Amino acid sequence: MKILVLHGSPQLHGNTAELCKPFLAELRENGAEVRYVTLANKKIGGCLGCYRCQDVEGEYGCVQKDDMELVVKDIIWADVIILACPIYSFYCPTTMKSVMDRHYGLNKYYGSAKGSLWAGKCVGLLLTHGYDVTMGTEAFVTGVRHLCTHSHLRYLGMYSVRHDEDISSFQTEEAKAGARAFARQILKG
Ligand SMILES: Cc1cc2nc3c(=O)[nH]c(=O)nc-3n(C[C@H](O)[C@H](O)[C@H](O)COP(=O)(O)O)c2cc1C
Repeated sequence: MKILVLHGSPQLHGNTAELCKPFLAELRENGAEVRYVTLANKKIGGCLGCYRCQDVEGEYGCVQKDDMELVVKDIIWADVIILACPIYSFYCPTTMKSVMDRHYGLNKYYGSAKGSLWAGKCVGLLLTHGYDVTMGTEAFVTGVRHLCTHSHLRYLGMYSVRHDEDISSFQTEEAKAGARAFARQILKG
């Protein structure tokens, strides 16, 4: 199974990166092919809303030539896409939101081009947040679930850990075991 983990925190070695460690280890120990991609060091502009991608058949077709092209290649390679990010303002950080908005070229719904470049793939969420799990994650999880329905992707679920103290909140045996259990859940599909 080919799994793409998109790490979407501006903090390269922050809480979310820490939670990714046991998750990635469990995936790899179980034989998954894993690509871990950090968005923070990529140049990815926001969607321009020009709809030009909707008239480009069989390829992504965005007019913006930036690092989203690399992310799209990884998305097309993957069977499963994991969005790993902190919650910012009840949703996700800016670069992750740009990646999400720029899914448009993967769905050809609104122009002369037809079909999808990613229908049938699976999506999971690995999140960190300051509020309790409901207040912290509800809006983002709901948005991603709707995006999956809209794009004909299969939503596989979410694992999250609350930022209570400092990075040690993500280094507890409970947090690590939870991340590993979530990895096994993802591998089951
Ligand atoms: C700008 C900013 C906005 C945040 N907004 C929220 C929020 O809306 N809800 C929440 O539960 N936590 C919020 N947090 C807390 C982070 O989600 C939390 O500290 C997270 O673990 C940070 O992960 P990182 O170290 O990987 O960036 C926010 C943090 C920052 C810096």
